Amino acid sequence: MRSCSCPRQSLGSYLAGRGHKVLCNNRPGPLQMASIPTSSVPLAQTAAQPRPQYCIRDCVAADVDQIKDICKDVYGGGDYMPRRIEEYLGDEQCLLIVADKGEGEVDGVACASLRGSMIFIFGLRVRTTAREKGLGRLLMVNLTERAKARFPHARTLASTTASSNQSAQKILGALLGAPLPQLDIWPPTSKTPHLSKYEASIGWPAKKADKDQTLLAFIPGASDILQQDGGALNLLPSWQTAHSMDEVQHALTSLRNPTGPVNGAENTHAWLPFFYEIWPAHSEFTAAAIGQQRLWILRREGCVQGVVVLSLSPECRRYIAGIVASDPQVIHSALLLTERHEPHFIAVIDRLQMTSEPEIYKTTQTVSDCLPYLKMLH
Ligand SMILES: CC(C)(COP(=O)(O)OP(=O)(O)OC[C@H]1O[C@@H](n2cnc3c(N)ncnc32)[C@H](O)[C@@H]1OP(=O)(O)O)[C@@H](O)C(=O)NCCC(=O)NCCS
Repeated sequence: MRSCSCPRQSLGSYLAGRGHKVLCNNRPGPLQMASIPTSSVPLAQTAAQPRPQYCIRDCVAADVDQIKDICKDVYGGGDYMPRRIEEYLGDEQCLLIVADKGEGEVDGVACASLRGSMIFIFGLRVRTTAREKGLGRLLMVNLTERAKARFPHARTLASTTASSNQSAQKILGALLGAPLPQLDIWPPTSKTPHLSKYEASIGWPAKKADKDQTLLAFIPGASDILQQDGGALNLLPSWQTAHSMDEVQHALTSLRNPTGPVNGAENTHAWLPFFYEIWPAHSEFTAAAIGQQRLWILRREGCVQGVVVLSLSPECRRYIAGIVASDPQVIHSALLLTERHEPHFIAVIDRLQMTSEPEIYKTTQTVSDCLPYLKMLH
């Protein structure tokens, strides 16, 4: 038997504010699926369609096949959710909810995980046939309320999406405010074939790249640009491995908030960019990267100029170099540093307020992007 509960008050006020009739009563506690769900919520309807009612409830193992079905065409069939859903379900720091139409028929899913003092929301998926009726928004409102109740000590709420994803931007914008400045993804994962051609050449994912089959050598002009950047090469010996999460926090805060106080701004500034994810400086992710000596800080004359974290993304299945850098030369240097450790990687770059683009972007003509969202909770 599945149980169904929801944060009725905020969900109710949200929907009431949007002119929806809410079929929630205020009786707390779990509800058996056999009875009328207390958190049933009708969504917008067209004249020809019956009004769907959804019970928003915790995801259970029996939902997995339906979630895989919902995700099968997402991101051109390359969605990570079908590969990762079982692991999320078994993770105590993860909260997964589904929208159940009745009898366990699922039309949507959304996830949140606790990362240090950050709640990161991700994995929002709505069945194609159920889209554009308000279900995505309903799931996210419900998820954030549940996550705040489950992780009451969290200080921030964060998420990401792409600038091309209009519906996700609307949903996240309403919940988390305006996005932070865009992160660049190089080489681009869409729009240009550079990455896919490289991966085909090495036989990925069946095979891994050899040390000499580097991405930078494969993309025409990329290695030349980096090798001709004497300043970037000169910086290489100055990248030092980080030794503590406090050190990483301080470095990120001083990079993003150079004129402001370092203490006190850590919740909004001390995060690492990753592949459609962000991680707080104080997190298991950061601790693991420090332990593997794959988190570096660049200082020049005592000032922090860049941070690089290099880690395998189970979602993306590639190594990701999360780079925060104050000028194009530092970005070039970070890419050279990354190549010394991994031949095959994708860089996710926060170039701060820098207006000029690094020359390496010219080799692919464009970059993909990731919009991070971050909101203080209290
Ligand atoms: C993103 C997704 C979850 C949205 O689900 P949904 O149920 O269609 O979303 P909603 O109906 O709640 O719509 C939310 C807002 O987006 C708008 N919207 C929905 N589809 C849209 C589209 N194709 N283009 C532009 N806006 C759109 C809605 O009008 C609504 O805006 P409003 O509240 O200002 O009217 C769904 O499209 C999906 O599963 N996409 C594939 C996976 C994905 O991209 N997930 C998000 C990852 S960050």
